[in-house]
Amino acid sequence: MDLKDQRQEYILDVLTEDTVDKNPFLQFTKWFEEAQERDVLEPNAMSLCTVDSEGQPSVRTVLLKYFDTSGFVFFTNHGSKKAGDMNSNPKVAVLFPWLDLQRQVRIRGRAEKISMLEASKYFASRPRGSQLGAWVSDQSQVVSNRQLLMDKFKQLKDKFSGKDVPMPKMWGGYRIVPEAFEFWQGGENRIHDRIQFRKIDDGWVIERLMP
Ligand SMILES: Cc1cc2nc3c(=O)[nH]c(=O)nc-3n(C[C@H](O)[C@H](O)[C@H](O)COP(=O)(O)O)c2cc1C
Repeated sequence: MDLKDQRQEYILDVLTEDTVDKNPFLQFTKWFEEAQERDVLEPNAMSLCTVDSEGQPSVRTVLLKYFDTSGFVFFTNHGSKKAGDMNSNPKVAVLFPWLDLQRQVRIRGRAEKISMLEASKYFASRPRGSQLGAWVSDQSQVVSNRQLLMDKFKQLKDKFSGKDVPMPKMWGGYRIVPEAFEFWQGGENRIHDRIQFRKIDDGWVIERLMP
C-alpha cells in the first residue's frame, strides 16, 4: 500500500496567543463544545497512555465522562492492565484526536483513583446493560472464548432481575489531574499552531511550541 500521497491541507482555523483562553480548562471546554457542534464522532473518546513499572507504555481509548478544574474523569476496571500501570506509576498522558476539526488536545498529568461514592453515582446513571457488562468482565484477563462471556451475562441478568445492579468492587474511576495541556491546530504548509499550558504554583505558563 502506498500512502505517500495520502495528505490533507490544514486550513480550517488558526490558534493564536490572542484567541486562546488564558484558562486551559475554558479553552478545552470551548473546543470540546465545537467538536460536539460539528458532530465529531465520540468527541469524549480519548487515547490514554500509561506506563508500567518497567517503563513500557500502553495506549488505549477510554471515554471522558465529566471534567472540571479538578480534572478529567473516566471509568474502568481496577483489575485492568491500565489500572495496574496507574497504581505503580500515576503519570499518564491523554490525547483527544479531533481530526475533523484538524485539532488535537494533549494533556499530561497524574491519575488519582476517585472515591467509591463518586464512582457509584456515575455507575447508577449507566444503562442497565452496561452495569451488567461491568460485572461480566475481569477486564484485561485472558478468556478462552466469547460464549463464556455471553453465558456469564445471561446468568447475571437473571441474578439481578427485578433488582438494582450494584457496582462491582473492582469497578471505578480515575481523575486525571493535568500538569500540562497542548492545543494543536493544523496550519497551512504544516505551520501548525501549538499552544502549551504548563502548570506552575499559582497558575499556568502559556507558550507557543514550534510545529
Ligand atoms: C470508543 C472506545 C471507548 C472505550 N471506552 C472505555 C472506557 O471508558 N473505559 C474502559 O475501561 N475501556 C474503554 N474502552 C476499551 C479500552 O480501549 C481497552 O480495550 C480496555 O479498557 C482494556 O484496556 P487495558 O487492558 O489496557 O486496561 C473503549 C474503547 C473504545 C474503542
